[in-house]
Amino acid sequence: MEKGYFISFEGVDGSGKSTQIKKLKQYLEGRGYHVVLTREPGGTAIGEKIRDIILDPENSDMTDMTEAMLYAASRSQHVSRVIEPALVQGKIVICDRFVDSSIAYQGYGRKLGDCVGIINEFVIGENLPDLTVWMKIKPEITSSRMKYRQKDRIELEEIDFHQRVYDGYEKLEKAFPQRIIGIDATNSIDDTYKAIIDRVEMLLKRNE
Ligand code: TYD
Repeated sequence: MEKGYFISFEGVDGSGKSTQIKKLKQYLEGRGYHVVLTREPGGTAIGEKIRDIILDPENSDMTDMTEAMLYAASRSQHVSRVIEPALVQGKIVICDRFVDSSIAYQGYGRKLGDCVGIINEFVIGENLPDLTVWMKIKPEITSSRMKYRQKDRIELEEIDFHQRVYDGYEKLEKAFPQRIIGIDATNSIDDTYKAIIDRVEMLLKRNE
């Protein structure tokens, strides 16, 4: 059986990822693909427990390195138990956030630097996404969208932190232009959707 496709979605909080992920899943299922939709941190029973610890606003004493390690631990479980098995079975895995979130948020946002990528190399092995859709929208725009939402520990960070995360994504897009595609997420839901479908179709055609 042929290996499946791995697509991840990235972006600052409130960038409209979930809406687009749902639409893409429907589109691919309509074309007859078997889609596994999952998310990080989380995606497994153990990962969801780790997620609760990471995002709990009461855990304000957590060190940046502990945070990076917990995201990596959740990912390790997720890759072994969900992502890799689904890819081996020829399914399409759509993941709401993956390793680029750690590099953008912990590497750049928390300023932990290169060690984040190094830790995660051990965690993900060969399981790098075939396509990463970066929903490109600046945090100053999304922060006004999120004003009334209850915020988790990461969302409660200052705007400077979220700006560094955005800059981190921009650097990643430049470093991996084949894999990471920045999609202008300030456009309408439909225009953004069309742009994403174009890129996904290019990926599917690559192996036809
Ligand atoms: P989530 O509720 O999934 O946020 P969103 O709906 O915006 O995707 O919470 C995940 C939070 O964790 C989000 O603020 C980004 C952050 N995060 C990291 O800092 N590092 C990581 O490796 C991952 C996967 C997420």
